[in-house]
Amino acid sequence: MVTSGGTGAPGGDGGRAEPGLRVRRARRIEELEAVAELQARIWGSWEVAAPATLLKAMAEAGGLALLAWLGPRPVGFVFGFTGRDREGRPYHRSHAAGVLPEVRDKGVGRALKMAQRRHSLALGLDRMVWTFDPSQLRNAHFNLHRLGAVARSFHADYYGVRTDAINQGRPSDRLVVEWFLDRPRQVELNRVRRLAGAQLRVPEELAAERFPAPAAHRQLRRQLVAALGSGMALVDYDREAAAYSVGPLPSSFPPPAE
Ligand SMILES: CC(C)(COP(=O)(O)OP(=O)(O)OC[C@H]1O[C@@H](n2cnc3c(N)ncnc32)[C@H](O)[C@@H]1OP(=O)(O)O)[C@@H](O)C(=O)NCCC(=O)NCCS
Repeated sequence: MVTSGGTGAPGGDGGRAEPGLRVRRARRIEELEAVAELQARIWGSWEVAAPATLLKAMAEAGGLALLAWLGPRPVGFVFGFTGRDREGRPYHRSHAAGVLPEVRDKGVGRALKMAQRRHSLALGLDRMVWTFDPSQLRNAHFNLHRLGAVARSFHADYYGVRTDAINQGRPSDRLVVEWFLDRPRQVELNRVRRLAGAQLRVPEELAAERFPAPAAHRQLRRQLVAALGSGMALVDYDREAAAYSVGPLPSSFPPPAE
């Protein structure tokens, strides 16, 4: 079990800590049912929620599901499993993370990711990988700036058409983010971030959240394909400028996981 606070983020500052927050591993079927229900509430659809039975198999077979509790109430979750890159290197493949809307911005998401990081390191995994929509700019800030993850791969229409509350009306374009969990790599990445000169500005309509914006989504897609196609990585996100920072990863880093 971890409590809020006391876990310095490799890529960001200390963040806020919600009093009474606890993050615990979810293994029992009732706990995993709570994870399924949180997904359905956060995404507004049972269709996208991984069922408790699948989560149970995952939790027993070397995967990881965590619940964040505020007192007796489950308010957030993360879960994932072990993946392998093309050269066989294992990593933690996080599939979903969510916090109830009414308790967002209180450090719960960060506490969940830090606990997931700690458990992954304990399992001998030094990289965590997941996907996010590059037009969801608060996620960009959370993943790249707050946590210190980077992105090297982009997939257009990764999930086909999505109709849940978070994704409806947007293409399901996804960046694959990689969070290098060991401190030496984070130190190297901080150096890359300081030196990164190029910026990829997000189209204004997306930055201003003026949806639907199909032309702006297509423009962002073209910008990402061009930037990442040249072998660069997105190493940070600047919320004020609504721009991703682009830079090269050191050659000592493993190739992209996915
Ligand atoms: C992303 C998410 C898990 C973050 O949880 P949280 O408890 O709000 O996270 P924290 O309080 O630790 O951190 C909030 C930070 O994330 C950012 N953030 C990311 N997504 C956000 C969202 N949808 N709403 C509010 N803040 C969000 C905030 O700007 C804040 O940054 P700041 O502290 O520098 O201002 C949560 O917003 C969520 O459930 N979103 C919907 C589901 C989702 O998008 N999941 C992630 C898919 S990769």
